[in-house]
Amino acid sequence: MDPRPLFLMTDPSCFDVCYQINPWMRPTAWSPAALAAAQSASGELRATLQTAGARVETIEAVRGLPDLVFPANAAIVLDGKVLLARFRHPERQGEEAVFRSVFARLKARGLVDEVVDLPDGVLQEGAGDGIWDAGRELFWVGFGPRSTKSSVAAIRRTFGREVVALELASDRFYHLDTCFCPLSGGEVLYYADAFTPQAQATIRERVPQALRIEATAGEAEAFCVNAVNLDDRLIMARAPASLRAKLTAHGYRLTEVDLAPFILSGGAAYCMTLRLDRTSQPHSAILAAE
Ligand code: ARG
Repeated sequence: MDPRPLFLMTDPSCFDVCYQINPWMRPTAWSPAALAAAQSASGELRATLQTAGARVETIEAVRGLPDLVFPANAAIVLDGKVLLARFRHPERQGEEAVFRSVFARLKARGLVDEVVDLPDGVLQEGAGDGIWDAGRELFWVGFGPRSTKSSVAAIRRTFGREVVALELASDRFYHLDTCFCPLSGGEVLYYADAFTPQAQATIRERVPQALRIEATAGEAEAFCVNAVNLDDRLIMARAPASLRAKLTAHGYRLTEVDLAPFILSGGAAYCMTLRLDRTSQPHSAILAAE
């Protein structure tokens, strides 16, 4: 088996901001120049992942489905099992059939093992709201603006793993991955104000203070919490110096990519990708097996 991390991305040829389902999206700010910038930004993100040692599978664009460029919302994937997403907004529901066939093809190629559906009535927007924490061996699950509270039990049942539910309190940080990012060293980078007081308390209970890296409003608004973490490397949108300093102090190396055209849609590095080879095996067990 190829040991390199494997990510899914989408060709951005049909990317667009032509509707508004989150407060960042302003169709009037969109232009042909933004599309050209998006094409090169997406290429740069792909090249950055590859330079970091990852493989990237790229799926085709589909006209009329601009947000297909955010495959983190397609599914939750762990140990080869794929839990297909169900979207809240009609604007994105057309993506479900596309991703269903994408995963069927990936399964036929042996890149994933099993594809399962959510129970009826449950909304769940994929790895955007279901983030695996490898060190703690659990899922952090966001709900409220997009995914329903009922998704928490559905994820627990599907994967048979511990799940910690976090209610999101703001329309601006509508997916967990916009405001919460568990890191390889056990730290959690997060923006506290995006969560309800109860969810903030849960984070404080679960993550000791020394491991909590709080993002400021400005850092979260720059979509830097929406980061891809590979060992000590963090790949993210252009970061304020304040955030760069905090993460460097914790031993992380930052690679920044100008993702401005995607931020116009309310997304950045983490949600432009979907990790397909995530395993629940503790890191120590993987090292021992090598
Ligand atoms: N325009 C997309 C939406 O509102 C952006 C999705 C970004 N994805 C994410 N996981 N944060 O659904």
